[in-house]
Amino acid sequence: MPQIIDGKVISAQIKDEVREKVSQLKAQGKSVCLAVIQVGNDPASSVYVGNKKKACAYVGIESLSYELAEETTQEELLSLIWELNEKKEVNGILVQLPLPGHIDENEVIRAIDPKKDVDGFHPQSVGALCIGQPGFVSCTPAGIIELLKRSGVEIAGKECVVIGRSNIVGKPMALLLLRENGTVTVAHSRTKNLKEVAKRADILVVAVGKPKMITRDYVKEGAVVIDVGIHRNENNKLCGDVDFEDVSPVCSAITPVPGGVGPMTIAMLMYNCANSVSLQ
Ligand code: GUN
Repeated sequence: MPQIIDGKVISAQIKDEVREKVSQLKAQGKSVCLAVIQVGNDPASSVYVGNKKKACAYVGIESLSYELAEETTQEELLSLIWELNEKKEVNGILVQLPLPGHIDENEVIRAIDPKKDVDGFHPQSVGALCIGQPGFVSCTPAGIIELLKRSGVEIAGKECVVIGRSNIVGKPMALLLLRENGTVTVAHSRTKNLKEVAKRADILVVAVGKPKMITRDYVKEGAVVIDVGIHRNENNKLCGDVDFEDVSPVCSAITPVPGGVGPMTIAMLMYNCANSVSLQ
């Protein structure tokens, strides 16, 4: 059986390290504060936002909560962001996505001061990652790098295939694997011969958004498989983009769903918040 890469254990370690760092900052008279903005009350977003606030409480980061009505205008949201950009006591600003359809997400992200962009979504943060300069890194791909490193998976020189090219996961994931000296291929919905391309991977990162799409015929014997997907199946059970039962016997290590990549996102958000203090 493969090594099961346990995101619950690794995310707990990271949160404990952040908690220690936050307490050291406090001892130097520096507190850490994250402003969390949610527009509307999408139930999934409310769960994520609730979990982020809980994690803040655990690591000792203060969280300020802004729950705005669905009808909030773009101007109102931008004004709040500008106000939070100016507040010295606010270190990080997080606008929970997706936003209601009448709001331009890109403009909202661009309004956040890059020094407070703990999600790592601002074009300046993405550009810095691209050219190897310091800046915030998107939490889910940063969490995947931690999962790999802390599980003893070497990245340098490995064939890495990322399936999915979203701005939040696929693209930054490819850049981070490249930064770790992997040989990186980004595959997507228009990739020809996807199975053959995926089978080249020593490290296969799957973020396609389709339940159980990746079966063993996409996976090279002994590959490390990272599953970013999260879905509910016919029986209301959580599953990923990877068919875990089918793929497990052929790979050397795999992340489960739930309990793999999922918990890492919030742990890395806490990490980014604690680091924001030194960037400011
Ligand atoms: N919606 C889903 N994932 C995320 C995330 O990592 N950050 C924000 N701001 N919104 C999200």
